[in-house]
Amino acid sequence: MENLANIAYLVSAVFFIFGLKGLSSPKTARRGNILASIGMLLAIVVTLFDKDIIDPTLIIVGVTVGGAIGAYSAKKVQMTAMPQMVAIFNGLGGGASALVAMAEFFRMVGQPEINVSITLVLSLLIGTVTFTGSFIAFGKLQGFLKSAPVSFPMQQLLNILLFVVVAVLGALFVLDPAVANPLLVIAIIAAALGILLVIPIGGADMPVVISLLNSYSGMAAAMTGFVLSNNVLIIAGALVGASGLILTNIMCVAMNRSLANVLFGKVGVAEGMGPVGEKKHVTRYTPDDALVVLENASSVIIVPGYGLAAAQAQHVMQETASLLSDNGVKVSYAIHPVAGRMPGHMNVLLAEANVPYDDLYEMDAINDDFQNTDVSLVVGANDVVNPAARYKKESVLYGMPILNVDHAGTVMIVKRSLSPGFAGEDNELFYDEKTMMVFGDAKKILTDIANLLKSS
Ligand code: TAP
Repeated sequence: MENLANIAYLVSAVFFIFGLKGLSSPKTARRGNILASIGMLLAIVVTLFDKDIIDPTLIIVGVTVGGAIGAYSAKKVQMTAMPQMVAIFNGLGGGASALVAMAEFFRMVGQPEINVSITLVLSLLIGTVTFTGSFIAFGKLQGFLKSAPVSFPMQQLLNILLFVVVAVLGALFVLDPAVANPLLVIAIIAAALGILLVIPIGGADMPVVISLLNSYSGMAAAMTGFVLSNNVLIIAGALVGASGLILTNIMCVAMNRSLANVLFGKVGVAEGMGPVGEKKHVTRYTPDDALVVLENASSVIIVPGYGLAAAQAQHVMQETASLLSDNGVKVSYAIHPVAGRMPGHMNVLLAEANVPYDDLYEMDAINDDFQNTDVSLVVGANDVVNPAARYKKESVLYGMPILNVDHAGTVMIVKRSLSPGFAGEDNELFYDEKTMMVFGDAKKILTDIANLLKSS
């Protein structure tokens, strides 16, 4: 039976790997998701059978009830709340790994082997850090907590001290689990560390934290896999850990920051910068004005941002784009890697609206095209087009590559006000003489433009 289970686990792992490969492109992402889900279903069912945990009837009931809850929440969750949901998934994954590892320790008869006790401590540490860290990230994304970095004197020294204490307690446990059983203390310190490590990161750096916590949740699962001697958990956890690290690297490159700089660098607090541009002049344009410019353009690059998701305007944006295409305008979409609130946010949003994948361009592929484009249509995006990133050294955005929307003939920005974006940095682009500010909810404005296009 054990051999059969291991073969089934291997098949699951193959599904996971092909699933991950599918996720590397929007065209194959849906199939990738389905493959990975099949792998997970297989792994769960085999584990429950293999360990004689429950009878088949309960497996069917569990899969049906669990599947229904999963399908309902996936359908119900707003696009804008997806990042928070991912943060919760990461946190619960880490917490579950830590709890399972602990529970296994209490079930053990006799002394655990040294490799088990080491991975147990690591699972507890990483899993608990992921749990509390993810809930802080959730709070920042949901707006329960301030998104700006929170720091206090000697913060890093305190973190180092707590790490040292955990390392010493962990070593004592590994040397003699029967004598020293400091697991609860390790869990409490790890919980504090999760909070302390995430609160100083904020503003534009959140993408890195989210992908890093995702990676941590995988590492915690892999460690628990060692504790349980469960191959599929080791493989699945390692895959999540490794792909999360790759994603973290992509996010760092997208923001032109090193990981160490994000985690330990002292970044200027966005809120302290004060409002800029109070005396500057902004011209308000209407959807009718926008129509005239768009109709006369031969090329338009659309730049979607978080506000598009907030307004749920992806469908009407797609409709507007195809109306423009029907009028002979060349329309493309420029996707910034950290646009929105989670990695791939804009891709998911646009796929939902059936925007053709061939019209989507990554930042590096399209940035040189803005100079030959008539109109950049920026919908609910802000930080990813903020020129302060190019030159304003004290800005939280400084160094982050941005989309060169200002190189186009006209910059048309659809948003509700002059408010800054997630990073809290004022955007001088709003006051540029070639910028047209079309104020309003993205869905309302784009619906007006689409209706005007239909009747023109
Ligand atoms: P943001 O800079 O956050 O700007 C979004 C803009 O959308 C806001 O300025 C807001 O202006 C506007 N908006 C909100 N609701 C709207 C609505 N209903 N209709 C029209 N406009 C609306 O977005 P971005 O340019 O996509 O940049 C993303 C930012 O989030 C970056 O700083 C990034 O680092 C950070 N972040 C990203 C991630 C990932 S992984 N992608 C995760 C966490 C944080 P008004 O209020 O004036 O309308």
